[in-house]
Amino acid sequence: MKLIIINGPNLNLLGSREPDIYGKGSFQTFLEQLKTKYQEIELSYFQSNIEGEIIDKLQESAGKVEGIILNAAAYTHTSVGIGDAVKAIETPVVEVHISNIYAREDFRHKSFIAPNAKGVIVGFGLQGYSLAIQSFLK
Ligand code: DQA
Repeated sequence: MKLIIINGPNLNLLGSREPDIYGKGSFQTFLEQLKTKYQEIELSYFQSNIEGEIIDKLQESAGKVEGIILNAAAYTHTSVGIGDAVKAIETPVVEVHISNIYAREDFRHKSFIAPNAKGVIVGFGLQGYSLAIQSFLK
C-alpha cells in the first residue's frame, strides 16, 4: 500500500517551533520511526510552506497512492483552494492536527478540509499520523 503524508506551512520547524504545543521531536526522526513501524507501507513525505505546491501535490498524488494524510497546518483554516483540491480528488484524505485545534483560538476551529476528508484526527501529537496510517489498514 502506498500512502503519502503532506505537511503544510511551518511544520518543517517541528522540534523547535512552540515545543509546548507541537513537541520537541523533529518530523524527520518521527518519519523514520513510522517507516520502521509500518514496513509493509510505501510511505512518502512532502512538506511545503506554499499553498499552491500543496494543491499540486494533492493532484499529483491522486490515483497514485491509496491514501493521503494531510496536515495543512494554518492553511486548514484559510484555504478554499486546498479544500477544493481535497474535494476534487477521489483518493481518500485523512486530516491530521498535532494539537487539539478545538481547544485553541476560535480561528483554528474552522477547517476547509474536514467536510471532504475521510476522517479527522486531532490532538494526539505526532501519534496522530500513526493513527491515520492505521485507519488505512484493513
Ligand atoms: C496544526 C494546527 C494549526 O492551527 C496550526 O496553524 C499549525 C499546526 C497542528 O498540527 O496542530 O501549524 O495543524
